[in-house]
Amino acid sequence: MNTYIGIDLGTSGVKTILVDKSGNILSQATETYDCVHLKDDYSEQNPNIWFENTIKCLKKLLINQDKNSVKAISFGGQMHGLVTLGENDEIIRPAILWNDGRSVKEVEYLNNIIGKKITDLTGNIAFAGFTAPKILWMRENEPDLFKKVKKIMLPKDYLIYKFSNVFASDVSDASGTLYFDVKNRCYSSEMLEICGIDINMLPKIYESYEVIGSLSKEIYELLGLNQDVKIIAGAGDNAAAAIGTGTIHDGDINISLGTSGTIFIATKNFSVDSKNALHSFCDSTGHYHLMGCILSAASCRSWWLEEILKDNDYQEDENSLKDSEVIFLPYLMGERCQHNDVNARGAFINLSLNTKRGEISKAILEGVAFALKDCFDAASLSGTKPSSISLCGGGARSETWKQIIADVFDIPVKILKTNQGPSYGAAILAMVGSKEYDSLEDAIKSIIKTDRVILPNKNHLEYYKRKYSIYKKLYPALKELENNNK
Ligand code: XUL
Repeated sequence: MNTYIGIDLGTSGVKTILVDKSGNILSQATETYDCVHLKDDYSEQNPNIWFENTIKCLKKLLINQDKNSVKAISFGGQMHGLVTLGENDEIIRPAILWNDGRSVKEVEYLNNIIGKKITDLTGNIAFAGFTAPKILWMRENEPDLFKKVKKIMLPKDYLIYKFSNVFASDVSDASGTLYFDVKNRCYSSEMLEICGIDINMLPKIYESYEVIGSLSKEIYELLGLNQDVKIIAGAGDNAAAAIGTGTIHDGDINISLGTSGTIFIATKNFSVDSKNALHSFCDSTGHYHLMGCILSAASCRSWWLEEILKDNDYQEDENSLKDSEVIFLPYLMGERCQHNDVNARGAFINLSLNTKRGEISKAILEGVAFALKDCFDAASLSGTKPSSISLCGGGARSETWKQIIADVFDIPVKILKTNQGPSYGAAILAMVGSKEYDSLEDAIKSIIKTDRVILPNKNHLEYYKRKYSIYKKLYPALKELENNNK
């Protein structure tokens, strides 16, 4: 029996799974690590930590497993991070991550001085999380380091490089760099010029399901795997999660409740929303997607429980949840879509001396759902309402959160039999890349199964409609307050 490894290089840790052809998970392992926040809006990780933890994780994954059965490995990874290597492949500086907000000036330059041309070239506007503004920041603020840079890559591409010695990336992850022409699935030479980088500094681009090489001798020996294990390009974590949840047909939707929150809307053709508020990216099937990304989702809950209440009993918290009029704005790391504002901040509104913990905890789950609904509304999908939404990410373990999503969106939530997201998608890409299935469509048809569907609770719809309409007015009001105080 052939088996496949999916690796999800996340922000709070790396997760690996070993899967057979039918999608049964034979083994899984995770390792966690921290983000370094040297300043409030800085967010960095050392790529070496990713590599070391991935190796540690794979060793655990393979204990008591048939190593000869492993045929291919693929990746899903946190997107947008700037990884820079020098002449001898040494790491020049820690990677600057997707939730880092230091490049405000560069974003303003790109959006206001270069302006609309950026959308024409890439399908997107600049956000601080994207890679291009970080390159401009490094050029301006660390010129000596920047001069040493010989290779620029994304987080999962660093693992690909370390695992195969092949300098490769894929269309979905490259879409989030802002120097990629999403519509035509290739680098934008004009954007490379604007960033002051040469195409030779960048990895070769593949479709997510393509073979890029095989495992290097050093790694197959280290892990005790066969020398012909294929490496498949893989995807950015959200595009990988879309594969892992079967979100591949026009209009299919997946919501991920991880450190970030995303709403991924599969689109057959390339498109840009009317306000360019969402990301317009390539997907892993040869088509496209629109995506809204909020910078804090499950991280709002872990901040509240672990940092503030010093309690990590998530189940007890789930049991304490209570309805209330408390409203939470989840902008703890600033906000990407809809507001593109690194200075946005979180807020609780409507507290009283009688407010109980469970009311605040529930408001947090609701606030995240409202922020994602805000992104969904920006997509202004014409025509019929989606028939369901699938969910993945750590936050999707909460039964209450699933119901809140169904109620806030007024769309049924589909719970899958296997709810693993990016690592599962990466394993499926590995299967298709090594021809276990003829196409992603075939693989998904045989592997992804729905377990149950959570219907919107009709008694909650009015309540959430009203709360959401108040929620939408709060960011502009707080912004006005901030501007008045300047
Ligand atoms: C997507 C985004 C995040 C990261 C982290 O645009 O920035 O979802 O990929 O997982």
